[in-house]
Amino acid sequence: MSDLSQTASRKLKRANWQALDILGDVGPEELAIDPAEREGIIALFWNDAGTEYDARHLRPYLEAQGMSISAPCKLFLDYWAHDEENHYFGLRRLLSLAAGITEAEIDSRMAERKPDFGPLTPFLNDELAMLTAFAYDERVTVQAYAMDYDLYGSIHPAAGRWVRLTNRDEANHYRNALMLLKLLHTDRRNEIPAILDALVAHDERREPYGQTFLLDHDDGGLYFTNARLRKCAAIIKRQVSGGPLETVGPLETVSPR
Ligand SMILES: [Fe+2]
Ligand SMILES: [Fe+2]
Repeated sequence: MSDLSQTASRKLKRANWQALDILGDVGPEELAIDPAEREGIIALFWNDAGTEYDARHLRPYLEAQGMSISAPCKLFLDYWAHDEENHYFGLRRLLSLAAGITEAEIDSRMAERKPDFGPLTPFLNDELAMLTAFAYDERVTVQAYAMDYDLYGSIHPAAGRWVRLTNRDEANHYRNALMLLKLLHTDRRNEIPAILDALVAHDERREPYGQTFLLDHDDGGLYFTNARLRKCAAIIKRQVSGGPLETVGPLETVSPR
């Protein structure tokens, strides 16, 4: 591995916490859910759990593409897949508690999900495009989970802690992707704005989510307004083009503790 690859690999942040350490002792009777809101909260958990679960589709798809992926980027994907699986375990537990169904039932519903990567192929055909898509997607996710801090916290203090730890991971996924772009792809940096514009255009067309983990943003503008999506892309353009390599800038909405 080159010195640059080793440096990039060392700079990758990885999480070291388990969702069930946070949520494992919570009983269903401890959840504070207003009966009028129960259905909406269960729908939110199904949605979020599904997206986290879909990380299981994306990793094998990327590997099957046969594109060349650098060693640090492979490590990035290892850490990312581990974290998203942990996020799924947390949401599966919350959903099980809120909806009164078993985790096995949730797993079997999830196993019916069928990804369609067709519309995403322009973003998944080389490492630069893929990392740009990850940076954009994870940055957007950070904004969305932050909007739900109060909701999760109102259901149970442990759920509030879980969503902040999860969002710290999402912020690290963003930072990791951006760091790899800045360290390993400086020679193609000028291609990144056009890729970001294409990602935003995809989302603004409100293309249906294809259970691909990436670009789950067709929510009718509830969380993912055009203004928010464009702001995320604009920040990435700024951060990828300027400043020292290590500096990825503050994620102002993240305060995990
Ligand atoms: Fe996640
Ligand atoms: Fe993530």
